Amino acid sequence: MNKLLITVISFGLAAGSLVAAEKVYLDQNAPLDQRVEDALSRMTLEEKVGILHAQSKFCSPGVKRLGIPELWTTDGPHGIRPEVLWDEWDQAGWTSDSCVAFPALTCLAASWDPSLALDYGKAIGEEALYRGKDILLGPGVNIYRTPLNGRNFEYMGEDPFLASKMCVPYIKGVQQNGVATCVKHFALNNHERNRHTTNVRVDDRALYEIYLPAFKAAVTEGDSWSIMGAYNLYDNQHLCHNKRFLCDILKGEWGYKGAVVSDWGGTHDTDEAIANGLDLEFGSWTNGLSNGASNAYDNYYLALPYLQRLREGKADTATLDDKVRRVLRLIFLTAMREGKGFGSQCSDEHYAAAREIGNGGIVLLKNDRRVLPIPAGKPLRILVVGENAVKMQTVGGGSSSLKVQREVSPLDGIREAFPMAQVEYARGYVGDVTGEYNGVVTGQDLKDDRSPAQLIAEAVEKAKTADYVVFVGGLNKSEGQDCEDSDRSGLELPYGQDAVIEALAAANPNLAVVNISGNAVAMPWVKSVPAIVQGWFLGSETGHSLGDVLSGKVNPSGKLPFTFPVRLSDVPAHALGDYLGKKRADEEIYDADYSEGILVGYRWYDTRKVKTLFPFGHGLSYTTFEYGKPTASASKMTADGEIEITVPVTNRGSVAGKEIVQLYITDVKSSLPRPVKELKGFRKVEIQPGETVNVTFTITPEELKYFDDSKHAWVAEPGKFKAHIAASAEDIKATLPFELSGK
Ligand code: BGC
Repeated sequence: MNKLLITVISFGLAAGSLVAAEKVYLDQNAPLDQRVEDALSRMTLEEKVGILHAQSKFCSPGVKRLGIPELWTTDGPHGIRPEVLWDEWDQAGWTSDSCVAFPALTCLAASWDPSLALDYGKAIGEEALYRGKDILLGPGVNIYRTPLNGRNFEYMGEDPFLASKMCVPYIKGVQQNGVATCVKHFALNNHERNRHTTNVRVDDRALYEIYLPAFKAAVTEGDSWSIMGAYNLYDNQHLCHNKRFLCDILKGEWGYKGAVVSDWGGTHDTDEAIANGLDLEFGSWTNGLSNGASNAYDNYYLALPYLQRLREGKADTATLDDKVRRVLRLIFLTAMREGKGFGSQCSDEHYAAAREIGNGGIVLLKNDRRVLPIPAGKPLRILVVGENAVKMQTVGGGSSSLKVQREVSPLDGIREAFPMAQVEYARGYVGDVTGEYNGVVTGQDLKDDRSPAQLIAEAVEKAKTADYVVFVGGLNKSEGQDCEDSDRSGLELPYGQDAVIEALAAANPNLAVVNISGNAVAMPWVKSVPAIVQGWFLGSETGHSLGDVLSGKVNPSGKLPFTFPVRLSDVPAHALGDYLGKKRADEEIYDADYSEGILVGYRWYDTRKVKTLFPFGHGLSYTTFEYGKPTASASKMTADGEIEITVPVTNRGSVAGKEIVQLYITDVKSSLPRPVKELKGFRKVEIQPGETVNVTFTITPEELKYFDDSKHAWVAEPGKFKAHIAASAEDIKATLPFELSGK
């Protein structure tokens, strides 16, 4: 038997070397591994090192001699970033690089609709392909730990299960275009302040149960062909060359075959980069946003310094070849993929997808007296107030900044949605009037020198005679207001918006507040405002999506992917004083202890019985859903068994709507402490008026597991459990007890 095997292998090798002369690496039909081995065998040491680092801000060289092309990366994750100069951040000044901006990933997560995530990925992948990009720098799946994190809008909320289910189809959608995703930022990059100098200290339970699952899903289920290391540190080692994360967990436990890309400027040490799993180095000597360092590429950690070590025998070729294989694989899957098509930019389909995603993700937080929707077919007087009703939002935010072909403002969208109405506008407050990022300018002149009192007086005066008032405010992606490299300074709305909202609420009972943000904000006026809409950052189709929802053309169906706390001190990281960590006395390192452990988001509010403003999973509709009595296929489950739970949900209203039915599980008694409950399933279903839809969940032991850090293993402990059918983390409709037996 062994002999036969040996014969076959050696024949294969002989055949391989014969074919090798025929350039197997160029043969699209040859197995990927063979192509990689063939290319590898032809490369010189210099060429091998050459493909492991950038040659410009966003691309790495291929191997010219072998006809292996460059790899072009782009941000990500909401649209294709405008072109910058070869090795500076300044705009290249193209006139053909305007894109469609898709809604921010928080909005996608709020749709709880994996099919929209697939549409999103497909559309943005096509835009990337059209622009000749091979790697899209996204999606972002860092867990929402604090509402101050300036980049939460680029991520998918506080729950690992939801983020996992939503990132996988996004990845598949992008990669079906022959464009790689680069899931980021691996890992523990949960706030922006001191992002290069924060050393996270977190226990293994929290790591495995909260912070890793979405990354794991992205690479094992989504098969993301690349992954980006984070700027911060873990165990005093930068995450871009962190042994535990990249070697032990990613490439070890998860068997990852893809390439690890550094964040821009996230590499700090050649020996660590060589030994600890970094494959492709970008952006060294920049902070990722400003100050470029021209022509420094030979000096990159994985460039000449690496070559030097190899030549001197101080670095081994096996490690080098492993990195080269991964990068070659990435090139073959993307840049050298034949027949991948041409993609398209700014197509009608892409705008339609952007609008659909926005429509699916907008969350109706509150709707007393059914103030919304505003009837579209009446000659009403509608007053729109607020800077965010007119301000373009796609330009800001940091590396996710976009140059869009068009961005429909909320005001224009509302005007379009209410053709019979007289729509007036009042500024209400002045926030950030700059409208410029990295040379991309909105061209808007938002300057207004009036005092806050004057602005409020004007808005109130107009509000008194209006039938409806829609306030559009929130954050705006300028520094400190949902923006990379900075965090917010507090939970409050900036620019005195609370006073404007209070004044409007006193002047007109039909007030709807639309909050534009990727984060929770404080709402001290929550009781006096009848209707509140969470409007996210919706990209190119912002106004259309908001118009659709405010007019009732679309029935809102999003639910919150993170909790809105009442106050900042209720948030676990802040309650425990561990948000930024403590600066070390002798060096510029901040040790951030994630001492809340697994109690992140609703897991904390539930377990510690802390009141929330709006809970995780909350979102209203213009119709009413009635949950019937759920039934279970069994009340006992064996270790290899499953239980099916079915719940009938009826639309009792007069318009069609979509409900997101959630399944949470409680472990009644366990050896290790567990949160009160955890999300383990969800379904978004469309239900016609009067119709009943049966929603079914399958529970297996997989959904019952916790991570036992002493055994370093996932454990489903026999015993009693509860399955909750819920409309939000705080709206449990029914609870079914069941048991996992020992066998
Ligand atoms: C960001 C990344 C981004 C990269 C390239 C970095 O500053 O953290 O998310 O992809 O820059 O622009």
